[in-house]
Formats: sequence, structure tokens, C-alpha cells
Amino acid sequence: MPDKKEFDRDSISNTLIVAIGLSLVCSVIVSSAAIILKPVQQKNEELFRQQIILDVAGLMEPDADVNALFESIEPRMVDLEAGDYTDAHDPATFDALVAAGDPALGIAIPDELDIAGIRRRAKYAPVYLVQKDGDVEQIILPVYGKGLWSTMLGYLAIAPDGNTVRGLRFYAHAETPGLGDQIDKEPWRAQWVGKLVYNDGDEPQIRVIKGAVPAGGRDAEHMIDGLSGATLTGNGVTYLVQYWTGPHGFGPYLKNFREAS
Ligand SMILES: Cc1cc2nc3c(=O)[nH]c(=O)nc-3n(C[C@H](O)[C@H](O)[C@H](O)COP(=O)(O)O)c2cc1C
Repeated sequence: MPDKKEFDRDSISNTLIVAIGLSLVCSVIVSSAAIILKPVQQKNEELFRQQIILDVAGLMEPDADVNALFESIEPRMVDLEAGDYTDAHDPATFDALVAAGDPALGIAIPDELDIAGIRRRAKYAPVYLVQKDGDVEQIILPVYGKGLWSTMLGYLAIAPDGNTVRGLRFYAHAETPGLGDQIDKEPWRAQWVGKLVYNDGDEPQIRVIKGAVPAGGRDAEHMIDGLSGATLTGNGVTYLVQYWTGPHGFGPYLKNFREAS
């Protein structure tokens, strides 16, 4: 009788072959799902951002068709240094965070100006113009900067006077629930509406203070109540709003509106 080697299902080599084969099949399934779902994910992210823009502009309605509502908003690109519009990039596809890191499209922010803690920014930024009867009714600016734990990304809505705030809304951050995440909650958010960014000069005066804004206080038009137990997140909001409305951010662009109004 020839010596027939018996098939051992539990041998080390068999176990390894099954384990490696299974891992390969699973990784192909997971990678394919990630590739196939990426466009859907990007579309949903875009839809979410559009929703936030509509919300900060006070145009969002329950169960509304976001795409249809967003048609009343005109996205434009701004050259931040010139403070003027440019057609050099498409606001629909421009990714300011990626562009910030690109040597050709981004610039380093000098340390003494980097109050938002972002180190670099793109030379260009999209803005969203809410039109009414052919006139600009609101200007929505993308703003971001460091909080206590995270980079906080949001939109700031400004009236066509280039000074009065119409709203501030964040769409991404990782501040602590119950503490830093008060930036997403009413009535704190509502306080921003009607506040003034600038006084007479070009340096933003708007800020989140510690404690409550004194009733009728001198300067109250530039102040927002502090966040109790979350002063550091509140400071982050102050700095990012001041950076993006300041001379190194949208300051030159907003100045055109202030001068025209
Ligand atoms: C677990 C933990 C999470 C915290 N998260 C936040 C936060 O998200 N934002 C914030 O400003 N402070 C946060 N704090 C508190 C800060 O360390 C700091 O005490 C606070 O900002 C000071 O604000 P206050 O002067 O209003 O108390 C956290 C503290 C702890 C222990």
C-alpha cells in the first residue's frame, strides 16, 4: 500500500491559507465599498454644507428641497489679499483646506497674525451671496480656527453693510458635549444676530467675553456672552471670527461693502 498523506484540515498551513484568503476577500470588499460610496459621501457632505449655509442665512425650511433653496445663493470666489472677486477658481470645487497646504494656492500666516491657530490659509476663498431683487442681501463667509480640542469650521453671515452679523453656525468641531458644544446651541447662537464686527477702523472688535454682556454697556454691540465652563472654546470662536473678518482674512473684501453702504 502506498503511503498516502492524510489531509489535515487543522494544520498550520491550512489555517494560514484560510485566514489570509479571508482577509484578502474582506479587504477587497471594504475597499470597493469605500471607492463606490465616495461620490455619494461627497454629495451628502456638500448637501450638508449647503444646508448649513441656508440655515445661517435664515433661509432653511423644514422638509425643504435644499438644492432648490440653494439656487437663490450665488457662490463666488474672492482673492483675499485684493478683497475682490476672481474667476481663477470654481467655488463649487475649490477646497480651501487642501489649497491652504498647496505651495501655489496657499500662504503661511505670520505667527503674530495667526490668532485662529491655523498656520496657513488659501489665497482664495468662496463666499456665498444671498440675492434679493438683484441686490446682495447677505454675504456668507466660511470661517475656521482652533477651539480647545479641535478645528471648528463654520459660516458667518454678514449684512450688506459689511459689518452687521446675521448669524454664525458651525458644521464641524469636536468640542466637549455640554461644554464647548454650547457654540451650536440656542440661545447663545441667536446672540450673534445684530452684533457689529467693526467700530470705526478695520480691526474687528466683536468678541465672546467672560460672563454676561452688561445691559446697555458701552461696546455691548460688539460683545457676546461667555460660555460657562467653556471659556477656551469661546476664546477660539472670538479669534477665528476676528481673524477671518480681519485685515488678513476677508477684511479687505468686507471693507468694500462698508465703504459702499
Ligand atoms: C473633560 C473636560 C473637557 C472639557 N472640554 C472643554 C471644552 O470643550 N471647551 C472649553 O472651553 N473648556 C473645556 N473644558 C474646561 C477647560 O479646561 C477650562 O477649565 C474652561 O475652558 C475654563 O472655562 P471657565 O473659566 O468658563 O470655567 C473641559 C474640561 C474637562 C475636564
